[in-house]
Amino acid sequence: MLTLGIESSCDDTAAAVLQDDCTVMSSVLSSQDSVHNKFGGVVPELAARQHLTAVHPVVNQALAEADITMEDIDLIAVTQGPGLIGSLLVGFSYAKALAWHQNKPCVGVDHMSGHILSVFLEEEKPDFPFTALTVSGGTTSIFLARSFTDFTLLGRTRDDAAGEAFDKVAKILGMPYPGGPNVSRKALEGRSGEIAFPRAWLEDDSLDFSFSGVKTAVLNYCNNCRQGDLPIEDICASFQEAVVEVLVEKTRRAALKYNTASVVLGGGVSANGRLREAMGQMCLEHSLGFFAPRPAYCTDNAAMIAFSGYHLFRSGRRLELDDDVFSRSSLG
Ligand code: KG4
Repeated sequence: MLTLGIESSCDDTAAAVLQDDCTVMSSVLSSQDSVHNKFGGVVPELAARQHLTAVHPVVNQALAEADITMEDIDLIAVTQGPGLIGSLLVGFSYAKALAWHQNKPCVGVDHMSGHILSVFLEEEKPDFPFTALTVSGGTTSIFLARSFTDFTLLGRTRDDAAGEAFDKVAKILGMPYPGGPNVSRKALEGRSGEIAFPRAWLEDDSLDFSFSGVKTAVLNYCNNCRQGDLPIEDICASFQEAVVEVLVEKTRRAALKYNTASVVLGGGVSANGRLREAMGQMCLEHSLGFFAPRPAYCTDNAAMIAFSGYHLFRSGRRLELDDDVFSRSSLG
């Protein structure tokens, strides 16, 4: 069975072809980084317009790289939400029109389930149930995953997502968007214990997150430094450590509380080397399996949407022509 995945929730237009639920035949991505760079963040109106011009060529390229035509496709899976409404509407409307025209079934996928399941695109796969930390520019959440279609939300950020905090800190320090990779590169040369940025633990039993405080602490620290005298590497390393420590500790608490055998990472920030190292170490100490996808499957991609869509289809899910996109995750 061949599934065409289409993703346009934020600022990347992506398409992929997946055979059954195991072989990625192609995975194509058109990045808009150069468009949003000068604004220090994603401009929703520009993102939607870019998707409009990119979606058809990206889908054609995915089909060509898989060496198939649209006739060979059995299922179309498309991101339905959460994300920027204008961006979502482009991929979603395109997929519905294509499905209707080609007389193919279509399923709408929650982007978060794609991130939770992207690790299944790798050789090493976890058993259910597992604890999943999805950490990106739009969300930071912990889920209990019981099957390919059954996820329970255990905690989420009450303000900024971790990736958003990385991007805002990068902007404060004058680094280009997306800031996460730049901050983590600078952090490699800095001392992580040098500046005591705050960790928001919230209530004792809470698995929620809050990252706006640490971002503001970085801003205040920079404002109090003499002009031209910013210890950028130490700021990056200390900020990153504050974020990673909270992400790892909350995931540890969730895995122990819900007694899962494994921890799974997903979302753009899970490409962060320090997060992978610290999470791996924590899992080792508690004899937990640790699974994280390669960086290309951490950030937004359509292969994970095709994978999730395949399993939704098998569970009986279908899109209707008048179904709409949603801005908040449907996973409860
Ligand atoms: O999942 P993603 O591609 O898009 C969504 O937000 O849905 O994640 C992008 C986010 C951005 O905030 C980016 O700065 C962050 O992931 N990111 C990183 C790293 N690579 C990407 N953050 C920290 N360290 C990284 N190495």
